[in-house]
Amino acid sequence: MTNSSPGIPALWSGQAHMPSVLGRQLVIVEGTGAYVTTSAGQTLLDATSGLWHANIGHGRTEIADAVAAQIRKLETYHVFGRFANEVALTLAERLVKLAPVDNAKVIMTSGGSDSADLAFKLARRHWQVQGRPDKRIILSRERSYHGLHAFGTSVTGIEFNREGYGGPSLVPETRRVPTHDLDGIAAVVAEVGAENIAAIVAEPIMGTGGVIPPAPGFLPGLQKLANDNDILFIADEVITGFGRAGAMFACERFGVQPDMVLMAKGLTSGYLPLGGLLVAPGIWGRFYRENAPVFRHGLTYSGHATASVAAHANIDILEKEFLVERSAALESVLHDALSSLSSASGVREVRSGVGFMAGVELDEGVNGEAVSEHCIDAGVIIRCLPGNTMQICPPFIVTEDEIDRIAETLTTAIETVNARPTAAARGV
Ligand SMILES: Cc1ncc(COP(=O)(O)O)c(C=O)c1O
Repeated sequence: MTNSSPGIPALWSGQAHMPSVLGRQLVIVEGTGAYVTTSAGQTLLDATSGLWHANIGHGRTEIADAVAAQIRKLETYHVFGRFANEVALTLAERLVKLAPVDNAKVIMTSGGSDSADLAFKLARRHWQVQGRPDKRIILSRERSYHGLHAFGTSVTGIEFNREGYGGPSLVPETRRVPTHDLDGIAAVVAEVGAENIAAIVAEPIMGTGGVIPPAPGFLPGLQKLANDNDILFIADEVITGFGRAGAMFACERFGVQPDMVLMAKGLTSGYLPLGGLLVAPGIWGRFYRENAPVFRHGLTYSGHATASVAAHANIDILEKEFLVERSAALESVLHDALSSLSSASGVREVRSGVGFMAGVELDEGVNGEAVSEHCIDAGVIIRCLPGNTMQICPPFIVTEDEIDRIAETLTTAIETVNARPTAAARGV
């Protein structure tokens, strides 16, 4: 076989309008600390940590060494049935100690979308074995993002990710609720009937939907609403976990103890693909007893030994270098650096100061994609999220000067694009 479309890459990129990608692909070949280098030799300050993943920064040789040693010993062995591998077992013990849930068990996956798929399946399975088979509907919030597997595609509150597959929901029995309005959520619960609802899922700080922190009291209120109605409460900590919210898990910060917690990204800081799900005793208890049913879930790479070693080495770095504490300290530095943008022309809202992450929402008439391009040309990677919001979430090892540079670059880019007479926001 040949590639009969020479010059057109065989790689079909993610979330990409392919004709717009051709000829202007940014190929990243190397990364060190908070910087990455392109194949054209440009060095870029990575203000988005890739896709929110590179919490400890790029190019850590400790992880490379640990991974190489593990592959020499055993690449992996599966964890189906009575098989397990040593590293998956020790990682699970470690995660349980860090978990924001008492006495949790851990199921490992290959990434965030896997973790979402698993959590929603387990929520439904839980109610089946409890003898409440009608409890099947998964509630998720408007603007939410839980990956793009079939279940994630079905529950996302970012509409364009749901569209185009025919039918209202790729996996049936899902429903959207308001982002922050507890009364509005209670109204949906009343309308749908708690007896039909398996779970509600929430990102503690919404990420891809535009970096939206929870309204004060929202998360404890949501947990109470869920508990009062026998609805499982699932926290999606794929972005916020492992330090991004200034604590190991955002649930600690906001004082909630969910029934399940999704993990990925910062679990390995992206050094190898790995995700997981923390499960509270109220769910796992039924599956660990004599005469217990089987939960038929599992992936060849659940608990992949080499990915688990990368997670261990990543958590070692977070702990030894006090990077979670550093993330907490940098939260206000980023907030201060962006503060003058609140009143800048072309800016609708700056959302910062909750977690080491920020979203700068632009007016509709300011083209966020053009702002992103301008930032990249000036040497800083800043991405445009849905809702015309610029995403900023640097690695935790970034310096205060680099945070200033990020803010200055973004300010100049917005000024430049805003000054263009024909600027029109596309929103992505
Ligand atoms: C909150 C959240 N959940 C789930 C996912 C999906 O993770 P992955 O892309 O690793 O499948 C993401 C990815 O951005 C996310 O932000």
